[in-house]
Order: sequence, then C-alpha cells, then structure tokens
Amino acid sequence: MSEMSLFEQPLHLLNEVQDAVVNDAESLEKFRIRFLGTKNVLKDLFSEIKNVPNEQKKEFGQRVNAVKQAAEEKYNSFKESLESAVVKVAHDLDLSAPGDMMALGSRHPVSIVKNQIIEIFKKIGFSVEEDREIEDDWHNFSALNMPDDHPARDMQDTFFVQQHPDVVLRTHTSSVQIRVLENTKPPVRIIMPGRVYRNETISARAHCFFHQVEGLYVDEKVSFADLKQTLDYFSREMFGEGTKIKMRPSYFPFTEPSAEVDVTCFLCNGAGCNVCKQTGWVEILGCGMVDPAVLQNCGIDPEKYSGFAFGMGVERITMLKYQIKDIRLLSENDSRFLSQFRAAW
Ligand code: PHE
Repeated sequence: MSEMSLFEQPLHLLNEVQDAVVNDAESLEKFRIRFLGTKNVLKDLFSEIKNVPNEQKKEFGQRVNAVKQAAEEKYNSFKESLESAVVKVAHDLDLSAPGDMMALGSRHPVSIVKNQIIEIFKKIGFSVEEDREIEDDWHNFSALNMPDDHPARDMQDTFFVQQHPDVVLRTHTSSVQIRVLENTKPPVRIIMPGRVYRNETISARAHCFFHQVEGLYVDEKVSFADLKQTLDYFSREMFGEGTKIKMRPSYFPFTEPSAEVDVTCFLCNGAGCNVCKQTGWVEILGCGMVDPAVLQNCGIDPEKYSGFAFGMGVERITMLKYQIKDIRLLSENDSRFLSQFRAAW
C-alpha cells in the first residue's frame, strides 16, 4: 500500500471489501480479523490521519468510516447467510432415515464347511485343538509309526525345510494327535482342524495346501463300533438324515485296522450321477483304531487304553457339497466366486 498515496488507501480497501468472497466459517473469521478485529487495517489508517493535509482530513475520515461501515455490513450479511445455510442443512437432515448399506463380506466356503464339521462334533462332546503347521519329523511321521525308511512316507509328498531335513510343513493334522497325547492323560476326545501341505502338482483336483479336520477319541474300551457309530452320526448331520456310510478296508501306518469311509451320494441319493461317478457313493474320510505303537510313543499304556482316529479333507467335502469342479477356485480369492457363499456358520 505504501506506493499508493495515503488518501487513496481507503478506496482501495473499499474495493477489497466489496470483492471479498466468504463461503465458510474460516474465511468469515479471516475477513473479521482483517477489517473488524482489534488490530484491523482501518485502525492503521485512522492513526495516519495526522499526516493527511488539513484540507483533505475531513474527506479522508469519511472515506475510512465508509470502509468500516461497508465491512460491518458485509460481515453481518455473510454471517447471516452462513448461519442460515447451516440451519438449512440441519433442517434437511433426516436423522431417522436408514443409513447406506455397507457391502458385507461373505464367509469362505472352506470355513463354512469346517465350522459345520466342528459344530457337529462339539454336540457329542469333542473339543477343538489346534497346533503348528511347521512340524518336526517325530510328530509328523516317526511317532505315527512311520520310521525313516517306512514306505508309507511316499504316500505324502512332503515339503522339507532346506538345511533342516528334520523340519517339515505338516502333511496331515495327525501330528496334532501326537502333540496332544504326549501331554494329556486319557480320556481324550478332540477334533483338530488345520491347514496341511503336500508337494503335489497343482491341478483341478489337487493343491499343495489344503485343510483337514482330524478326530481322536482315546479312553478305556474304545471300540471300532464306537468309531462306526460316531461317523454314522456325523454323516447324517452333515449330509442329511437318510445318509448311509460304507467302510472299506484301507491302510494307514498309524491305525490298525484302517478304513476309508464312503457316504451315499447326497446329490442323487445313491442312484448314480456325475458327482459320484455313477457309483452312488462318495469317499469322505480315512479312519481306524489308533495303532498301539502310537499310544506307546506318547507314553500311554495300550493295554489299558484304546482309541479311534479319523481325518477328512475340508476342500474335498466343500467341493462335493457345493459341486465345485476346480479346487483352485478355493484359494484364488476371486470375489465373484466367494460372494456366492453366505451362511451363518
Ligand atoms: N492322516 C490321514 C491322511 O492325511 C488321514 C487319517 C487320519 C487316517 C486319522 C486315519 C486316521 O490321509
């Protein structure tokens, strides 16, 4: 302002007042401080009045007063219109209106089925145990009756940890049986859900990681009939009231005798369809009576105690239940696929 004559300065400020744009509380406050605050620009001009030539003093004073008046008017009208805008927003706001819906995620189908399996076994007194996915050789193999040179190790292509041949990604949840039996005195009645790893070529039917639910019941006088009864109950709960089971002799190093269990195909009720490959039956799990050597490895007297165990693949049951043709869909996280599954489980 200094290059402008003192006499001109009020006119310049008047223009500034007239052109000022105020559209929010912050700019209103800036305007107030500049023109009406305790250190406003007009005060400086009033104190300069002594330097104005006498004949111009009166007009100068009038000019400064005009700026002050204009600033006050403008401030009041800005303030009013801002306040009424706020009142209008508040007035238009319907606090009882329903909010915008948030897009909810959906539970993963593998979790849905896993939780369903857990709930079914909880009803008959099983509790849940989880343990590590990175295991040592003892818990994954040796304690389960699979010594170093046992050909059964070939059944499970294993991921070994480099430089630590004793450390593996667990190939099955049976390792948790050992972890629990080593530390718990029977009776033991548990289910053990978890992720397992196998060095498999990935295809529509096989993946290098998947989920299992293992079951274990060890007590005095546990018999094969108890195993059969338990799995019969599970199958009816899981696949529907009319479901029947069939046990076929099989082999696992840690159970003797061992069996694989088929259920009547829940899609065609046993008539034959493409899910059961026209046989009327679908395989769902492996099981057997815990081998006495396994109990002994965990410090449990096999003369006093006996037990049964079973293990099922969660992806396999999920694929059967929802007719999913490719296991890879279950780990690709494609939301178009996942959003189709909604369940309370
Ligand atoms: N661990 C076996 C598998 O991964 C399944 C199984 C568990 C079989 C318990 C018998 C008893 O194939």
